[in-house]
Amino acid sequence: MSLSEGAASRALRPQGPAGGEALHVAIIMDGNGRWAKQRGLPRAFGHRAGVAALRRTVEGAEALGVGRLTVFGFSTENWTRPQREVSEILGLMKAYFASDLGRLERGGVRVRIIGRRENLSSDLLAIVDEAEARTAKNEKFHLQVAFNYGGRADIADAARRFAREVEEGRARASDLDEQRFEAQLSTAPAPAPDLVIRTGCERRLSNFLLWECAYAELIFQDVYWPDYGPDHLREAILEFQSRERRFGQVAVDDVLAAG
Ligand code: IPE
Ligand code: IPE
Ligand code: MG
Repeated sequence: MSLSEGAASRALRPQGPAGGEALHVAIIMDGNGRWAKQRGLPRAFGHRAGVAALRRTVEGAEALGVGRLTVFGFSTENWTRPQREVSEILGLMKAYFASDLGRLERGGVRVRIIGRRENLSSDLLAIVDEAEARTAKNEKFHLQVAFNYGGRADIADAARRFAREVEEGRARASDLDEQRFEAQLSTAPAPAPDLVIRTGCERRLSNFLLWECAYAELIFQDVYWPDYGPDHLREAILEFQSRERRFGQVAVDDVLAAG
């Protein structure tokens, strides 16, 4: 799709729906393995190229005026992959922060890792803690990395945390409503994503942000993640801007037509 001048400039300052808040884009970065296979390479090469795509996309998102980017890096189910591949992915996560943290910090990016901290090795935990601590005061751009993340696990953990409050007498079961529950999720207090992009030709959520995606626009881009970059992101944002979000209401035109 070629972009007209007008459409492109609209995409440069995308707005979320809630009164001028910056857009929150979430991405399921899928297709690394198939990208490598297509080239006759081991899957690890796809993951390495995927890190480069992440770097490009973070830079592109900032330049496009996106305020928050949440990327799915490793799911609770991905532990079932061959151990060698799991180690490769964990190693790349460490390498990414080792090489990019300084730049992210200087660039005003606030880094947050969402997902279960259990089962992460102590060196990975130290890197995650350092990334969050060093960027804690930044506000220009929010980068959330879902790592060892599963939507169901996160919902179960949130339920357990609330149940503990009840057990300890700090809350009553009748206090629980959507807002109170949401505050227990690992994504809290960040706003929900406005759009979720999945690359890699599949049409599913694969356990990503199940609660938070209730009203997100879903956009599927048939490109393997290692080939992704700012131009694809711009196209996704343009597609998002052409959608009408209704949140269960009727369209404004229909209300006017009905008198
Ligand atoms: C996404 O690419 C990266 C992770 C899940 C860690 P895949 O590794 O799932 O690549 P495909 O889907 O097998 O091509
Ligand atoms: C989702 O991709 C997880 C990440 C992108 C990190 P998967 O490749 O694990 O999803 P499935 O197995 O195709 O559903
Ligand atoms: Mg996959």
